[in-house]
Amino acid sequence: MFDTLRKSITEIINDNGGNATKKMRDICTLLRDSVTYYDWVGFYFKNGDRRELKLGPYAGEPTDHTIIPFGKGICGQVAVSNENFVVPDVSAQDNYIACSLTVKSEIVVPLFKNGENIGQIDIDSNTPDPFTQEDERFLEWVNQKVAEIL
Ligand code: SME
Repeated sequence: MFDTLRKSITEIINDNGGNATKKMRDICTLLRDSVTYYDWVGFYFKNGDRRELKLGPYAGEPTDHTIIPFGKGICGQVAVSNENFVVPDVSAQDNYIACSLTVKSEIVVPLFKNGENIGQIDIDSNTPDPFTQEDERFLEWVNQKVAEIL
C-alpha cells in the first residue's frame, strides 16, 4: 500500500499545475482516503517568528486548533523535540489537545527544510494503536518530498 502511495505522491509533487498548498491538500486527501486508519491528516507549520504552530492544509473534520503554542499538545511537543511522536492511546497522554472525541491514537512526524524543523504532519486515528514503524518511515518520506516544494 505505501509503495503505491509513494508513486501517487511523487506524481502530485511533480505536477506542474497547482502551488504547494494545493499539493499538500491533495496529499492529505489521498492519505485520508487510502489508509483506513488515517481519519484526519494535516500539516502544521511554524507561524513566522512566533513560537507557535499554525494549521496548514488538511483533510478531515475542521478543527478549532488552528494555532498551537510550542510545547502544548502532541504537536507542540514535536515542534520542540524534533522527533516523531507516536501515541497509541491518546487517553494516556497528559499533554494532549483533543480535537474530536472519536480519536483514539495519533502520530506526528516533524518536517525538516535544510535541517530546520519548520512544521509537521499530524494524523489522527479512530483506531487504537494502529501505527507501526512503516507509518513512521513512510511519513518521514512524505515530509521530505513536501520539503522539496517549500
Ligand atoms: N491532538 C493534537 C492537536 C491537533 S488535532 O489532532 C488536529 C495535539 O495534541 O497536539
